[in-house]
Amino acid sequence: MIKKLRKAVLPVAGMGTRFLPATKATAKEMLPVVDKPLIQYAVEEARAAGIEQFCMVTGRGKTAMVEHFDVAFELEATLRERDKQDAIAALAGTRSEPGSITSVRQQVPLGLGHAIWCARAFVADDPFAILLPDDMVLSDKPCMQQLTEAYRETGGNVVAITEVPPEQTNRYGILRTGKDDGRLVEVLGLVEKPAPKDAPSNLSIIGRYILMPEVINHLARMDRGAGNEVQLTDGMARLIGEQPFHGLRYQGRRFDCGDKIGFLEAQIAFALQRPDLAGAVHAFLKNYV
Ligand code: G1P
Repeated sequence: MIKKLRKAVLPVAGMGTRFLPATKATAKEMLPVVDKPLIQYAVEEARAAGIEQFCMVTGRGKTAMVEHFDVAFELEATLRERDKQDAIAALAGTRSEPGSITSVRQQVPLGLGHAIWCARAFVADDPFAILLPDDMVLSDKPCMQQLTEAYRETGGNVVAITEVPPEQTNRYGILRTGKDDGRLVEVLGLVEKPAPKDAPSNLSIIGRYILMPEVINHLARMDRGAGNEVQLTDGMARLIGEQPFHGLRYQGRRFDCGDKIGFLEAQIAFALQRPDLAGAVHAFLKNYV
């Protein structure tokens, strides 16, 4: 029987150096796209896929994200007093079920694999999702929901994948592929950030995963990989052959918000989706092109 997916791990301990000075005193994941922080997009996407429990892997000075999903009693009381209904409504997505969000600290930045291992008590014996809030996907059906459907079909590990220009393989986890029906791809191998000449394909992993709990045992070896970090990709590679492992070509457009250009593009793309903003954004864009 396939276990229902209920848990998500959100690794958010990174220093956000690419966004300094903005990230000097605040978390990168709190940067807004239009009017909502990256972390909230990730949580809402997971909720839409039926996920109920969240574990944020945070680091020093990154408490704002946990605060963001708490009840802001004074703020809400003031808004009610002033009858600011729109502002109260805007807070809806920040409310969470009592006890549904927990956090652990990654005390030292040893890599994404190490961050996920830090959530091992939360994961326990359950399948779990990972969402990297830097990666945003604009789609009709939320990306995590597409992955959940693929998980129900395959009963095993599934990662969201997309083609990248061959010269960019050194930025991502890359697949060695087996059977490919155009949507689901059997994964025969995974390599983290290979140089273009060594890359087994140009199919890259984006920041959406559904993994079986056994990956934690592989991560626990703390083997160092690319960049001398404990890589999630290397831990996942060890599952291949033990368990089903597939890549899903999701429907949608992905924005790498860890990068300035990707982040700026996401602002425009997401603003154009908003009925209250689309017209005005369209109109001013014409002045720049
Ligand atoms: C991480 C993963 C990589 C994946 C990427 C997706 O890399 O290690 O396998 O392709 O996220 O965004 P990072 O962006 O942390 O360098």
